[in-house]
Amino acid sequence: MPPRLTCILSLLLWFTVCADAKITRGPYLQQAHEEGVTIVWRTEEAMKEPRVSYWLGGTTAMNYCAGAKIGVRTMTSEQPLSKTPKGTVQYEATLVGLKPSSTYRYAIYDGKSKLTESGSDSHFKTHPPIGKATPTRIWVVGDSGTGAQHQALVHEAMLQYVATSKRPLDLYLHVGDMAYSKGTDDQFQKNFFAPYRSTLRNTVCWGSMGNHEGGSSNGKTGVGPFYDAYVSPTHAESGGVASGREAFYSFDYGNIHFICLESFDINRKPDGEMAKWLVRDLAATKAQWIIGFWHHPPYTKGSHDSDKEKELVEMREYIMPIMEEGGVDLILTGHSHIYERSMLIDGAYHTPTKAEGVILDDGDGRPDGDGAYRKSAAITPHNGTVAVVTGHGGKLGSDTKGIIPLNRSIVLDHGSTIIDIKGDTLTSIMLDLRGVERDRFAIQKKGVIKHRVVARPWKPTKKTEERTGHGVKGAPKDRDAAEIARKAGAKNLPKKLPKGAKSLIARHAEWDYLAGGEEPETGMWTMVEFDAREEGWKRGPAGFGYSDDDDETELEGMKDNYTAMFIRREFEIPAGANLKRLGLAISYDDGFALYANGSILFSKHLETNKRGKTTATSHEAKKVEYFPLSSFASAFKIGKNVIALEGHNIKKESTDFTLDPYLLLEGGK
Ligand SMILES: [Fe+2]
Repeated sequence: MPPRLTCILSLLLWFTVCADAKITRGPYLQQAHEEGVTIVWRTEEAMKEPRVSYWLGGTTAMNYCAGAKIGVRTMTSEQPLSKTPKGTVQYEATLVGLKPSSTYRYAIYDGKSKLTESGSDSHFKTHPPIGKATPTRIWVVGDSGTGAQHQALVHEAMLQYVATSKRPLDLYLHVGDMAYSKGTDDQFQKNFFAPYRSTLRNTVCWGSMGNHEGGSSNGKTGVGPFYDAYVSPTHAESGGVASGREAFYSFDYGNIHFICLESFDINRKPDGEMAKWLVRDLAATKAQWIIGFWHHPPYTKGSHDSDKEKELVEMREYIMPIMEEGGVDLILTGHSHIYERSMLIDGAYHTPTKAEGVILDDGDGRPDGDGAYRKSAAITPHNGTVAVVTGHGGKLGSDTKGIIPLNRSIVLDHGSTIIDIKGDTLTSIMLDLRGVERDRFAIQKKGVIKHRVVARPWKPTKKTEERTGHGVKGAPKDRDAAEIARKAGAKNLPKKLPKGAKSLIARHAEWDYLAGGEEPETGMWTMVEFDAREEGWKRGPAGFGYSDDDDETELEGMKDNYTAMFIRREFEIPAGANLKRLGLAISYDDGFALYANGSILFSKHLETNKRGKTTATSHEAKKVEYFPLSSFASAFKIGKNVIALEGHNIKKESTDFTLDPYLLLEGGK
């Protein structure tokens, strides 16, 4: 071997040996209790000497967790991981002997090398002693796992709220569908661990499995990417009664008892293992508050119908009676892509759901309105429950299938639920993706309260529904979004067409289009999930328009009849591509708005009036203009994407119209 090559090879070997293992997932927190926590992370190859250093906040005395206290899992270990990238190792460090209600900081080391980035704020807080009343803040999210911008905005809205109110989260509950579309390991990585990284590092997420995770995980065997991701109690490690399974479990946080059920592939019947365990668990708890959470809602008419679907009917008919006999206060679910919140109810087990004889308080539950819902201080069977569906954490595309007569608040928009428990009062708010509070109710538990069923309860109507969400049928156009897009368009000026760029959507490629004066019913047409064929859209090559001989698809009948038309196209962004190097090349007359994966990016020569109507200002299609999309990189992802454009003519009588876009990747990579 020539000496130079030997030298290069030894250098390479030196780098291989000395390079630190790289963390590919986490670190994140699991299974906290009053004296400990489990810290989980993954590396792309095995670590030599894994170690967690942790120290009590405000002190410097270092503690270590290493050796046998750190579980090591691979695809071939005793408790094997499901399909993961080659070489992946998952570490699960069980920290014990800690002080209750205490904040610790932590870092991950391989021998002497620190793997968690310096300056990153990694900390955890142990649970308060079981039974001790402690102010508690809980974040509840459902149906979030798209990896798209709406999910990020819902997360960001919570972070802002928490920062402004100077009150961090204590717990995070996920009510399922956290990794669309099949809950694979890769989908968990992209749609759960990446978007929530900053929160998962410092807050335990307690998860219930949704049907989408059920696409690759099995509740009965406890095997699959969902069960790899979560370290859930099986032997009452965090309080409650041992369930023996990770699929359903309970835990305590101070004087709050949490019960997580699995409504997808576990027997939901009263003689099933889950229901029998639930009876024992409820009988044993002495907590002041009981909160149940799972995926399939007992009461919904959003994107799912609890009067018609088996899992939902069974959770209502079989599980709700046990929950209310046990004195539950609050039920949190998802699955339906909507926010729905009930009045104070008891005994609503009928199919179909009816309001007669089951409403204990038909007020709005608002402290500044009809007043908080009142319940007895001690756990009391059938003393009233509030049921919340909060399946709007990222995925939306929903109309309602009717109205559940128990509901006080119905909001079709993206958001999440934040619950504060302090003393005898629980306050719950719905925070939308803009950070606006959209619902609030409280439950106060004081003295002895005996309810009488409300004879003629308040009834929700179509007017109760607030329809503001993107992708919601009948929602008014989002003027704020249109204005932001107009401003982004004003800043984003055309540049020179880049040389050597690769076409991700070729010039004159075929697009799905909707013309003839029709408008899409909801914002879904800008999302990947939209099925253009099913919705009766046509297909044809770009450009679209009439007159001036520059159109591949001639829109006969547009002149004198209508001013707007819509086009969309799915395309792939190859692995390794730099998302900041996308650009739109377009010839247009008069105005357009550009969308990607459900979000509006920018518009050109468009104005939206107070009533949400969009009109164009004059622009001639003289040549192809090029708009770099570098500031919109977060709207795109590697893999399947969709871009969509609405094209507008200045007026019906206009002599020409052109909408002729294609998509480039600068530098070809
Ligand atoms: Fe679901």
